[in-house]
Amino acid sequence: MLEVIKVSKSYGSKQVLTDVNIRVEAGESTAIIGESGSGKTTLAKIIIGIEKQDAGRVIFDDEELNVLKRRNFENCSKIQYIFQDPYGALENNYTLKQTLNETIKICKRNKHKCMDIVEVLSYVDENLLEYLNKDISILSGGQRQKLCIARALIMKPKIIIADECTSMLDKKSSLEILKLLDRIKLEQGVSIISILHEIDFINDTWDNVAVFKDGEIIEYGKFKGFNDNCSQEYSKKLVDAFYYFKKEEKM
Ligand SMILES: Nc1ncnc2c1ncn2[C@@H]1O[C@H](COP(=O)(O)OP(=O)(O)OP(=O)(O)O)[C@@H](O)[C@H]1O
Ligand SMILES: [Mg+2]
Repeated sequence: MLEVIKVSKSYGSKQVLTDVNIRVEAGESTAIIGESGSGKTTLAKIIIGIEKQDAGRVIFDDEELNVLKRRNFENCSKIQYIFQDPYGALENNYTLKQTLNETIKICKRNKHKCMDIVEVLSYVDENLLEYLNKDISILSGGQRQKLCIARALIMKPKIIIADECTSMLDKKSSLEILKLLDRIKLEQGVSIISILHEIDFINDTWDNVAVFKDGEIIEYGKFKGFNDNCSQEYSKKLVDAFYYFKKEEKM
């Protein structure tokens, strides 16, 4: 459904992405991991069309996306982006209802069929319903991130790209958010691409794993068997770290 083919990008003399290939099928999840500065966010920005690649192609539903096409409403609604910072992502002085209404208004203006507010809030977390007419400033970070996910889901997207969307949350809220994304994948058939910093969030709920290093994908494949099949020292270290965390958790 989404295909990134040999995408490269540099900023000035700095090569940030080199020949990156990714393929995302409908209803599949992909975890992208890699150290800071390895180009993960740049790739996400290219997919949603707020950055332009120097070379390579992005194909979505059999159509090659250029920046103009990616910015048209239909395509924007189909590929939704969840930001790392749920505080910066939401306007202050709005209630939950007003926040979601803004998105619904845009959908209506574009004659786009969307979910309704109560439906989407009860889907992400029905406890949020009691805050419907409250200002969003009273929400916790985790609740805000759920509201951001609700705002994305309202559009009935085909892909959600979450860029380190748990990095500002504590462990419990992070796990809740990742569970929610997994549920959206399983129940709504939405493909999830999640950039994850924390190796301990890589587990067998992910269908595919891509490991980034210095702007290149050095390892890419099904999570199942990833441990046995990965060839690069760097990804082996990541996998070892994963099992180390698992062991710690059990202790
Ligand atoms: N607009 C820009 N202008 C110049 N350099 C940039 C720009 N955006 C990103 N970079 C550089 O590109 C490289 C990759 O950045 P990117 O944000 O994609 O990394 P990342 O893997 O998402 O890192 P992190 O895990 O810290 O979020 C970094 O060296 C960064 O400094
Ligand atoms: Mg980033």
